[in-house]
Amino acid sequence: MSSFDVLYLVLKYFFLWAHLFSAMLFIGGSFFMWLVLVPGSRDAIKDEAVRTVVVAKISKRFARLTWMLLSTLIITGAINALWYIPASTAAGSAGLYLTVAMVISTAVLIILLYGPGRHYGRQISRYGKEGDLEKLAAVRKKSTLVSYANLSIMLLITVLATLM
Ligand code: HEM
Repeated sequence: MSSFDVLYLVLKYFFLWAHLFSAMLFIGGSFFMWLVLVPGSRDAIKDEAVRTVVVAKISKRFARLTWMLLSTLIITGAINALWYIPASTAAGSAGLYLTVAMVISTAVLIILLYGPGRHYGRQISRYGKEGDLEKLAAVRKKSTLVSYANLSIMLLITVLATLM
């Protein structure tokens, strides 16, 4: 094995690992917010306006991290596709279609996260600070739907990744 082959293998597995680790943080973090942080905040903070402000601050910090994770996922995903698609096509498997499905799912996720997701997030944070519980409840209904859609797309991505 030449030193070029060794370098190729090291880079290939490094990019695959970086892709997998970013996906773990992104999907794991999102489910953690839904399954642990939000219900835990209800147990810990009884004042709804205060709870909303605290959760909004934590969500904002996580949102900053997701920008970096999504950028890493897209860059490493494109690099992984460079060798994954030719290898899977040669083996006669559905790698190309799975990769296209992964790209479309990622695009829909980005649109939902940075369109309605960010819009409702800002409104929730504002109404929480103003203590306007009525408006807060109305926005939360819409934002919950967006969150369910996001989590469903993430689940779909994990199914696609399993098939790859
Ligand atoms: C432009 C966007 C993306 C492209 C082009 C892409 C491409 C790929 C490719 C080609 C693989 C196969 C690697 C292999 O098994 O050898 C893969 C695996 C994977 N992708 Fe993506 N991906 C993208 C976005 C995402 C996103 C947004 C997530 C998660 C939120 C994600 C999660 C995963 C996971 C968990 C795997 C399995 C890793 C493994 O096989 O060990 N990908 N992706």
